Amino acid sequence: MFSKEKIMSASAEMPYFIRPSVNMEASAKKAAYEAALAGIRANLQGESNMIMKMATINSVLKSSLTYFYWVGFYCVHRGQLTVGPYQGTLGCLHIDFSRGVCGKAASSRETQIVKDVHALAQGTAHIACDPNSSSEIVVPVFNANKELIAVFDVDSTAIESFDEIDQHYLELILREQFETENLEMAYQL
Ligand code: SME
Repeated sequence: MFSKEKIMSASAEMPYFIRPSVNMEASAKKAAYEAALAGIRANLQGESNMIMKMATINSVLKSSLTYFYWVGFYCVHRGQLTVGPYQGTLGCLHIDFSRGVCGKAASSRETQIVKDVHALAQGTAHIACDPNSSSEIVVPVFNANKELIAVFDVDSTAIESFDEIDQHYLELILREQFETENLEMAYQL
């Protein structure tokens, strides 16, 4: 018999479909974000579905930035952060507002950049969904009424992958795509 815990925990082994992160220097990083921004704008022009936007942003960014190991959204749902669209190894399913870098971004409503996640208290200040993660950025996501609807989380296997360039572009992309009057919050059957 397998326990749920055993099945659900990510292994330290790098999955075959994910490569170790490679940090980018400032000019290459800016060029990659500019191309990604143009791709996101072009693909999502006129679209309003929240899940479609999240999935597309994940795909375009993970294909453009060489240090995006895990990329995805935790959506605000019944007072908790609940995993939404993501690309990467198995993510934690639920995160309280009081825990982890995601919880801190949600409760402070401010972007969090962590240069080395190993320097944080594990299980409280940082939650390790995947042991390969070494640095992280988490950006709060708002709707047009400035209500928190999600946080956007990116993990890198390298340390010091994220800086103010990431913060600038990610905040811009998320503002443009989600702080819109016509945003459809979820699927309707
Ligand atoms: N590291 C995050 C948890 C989410 S995983 O990185 C996908 C945190 O500390 O909140």
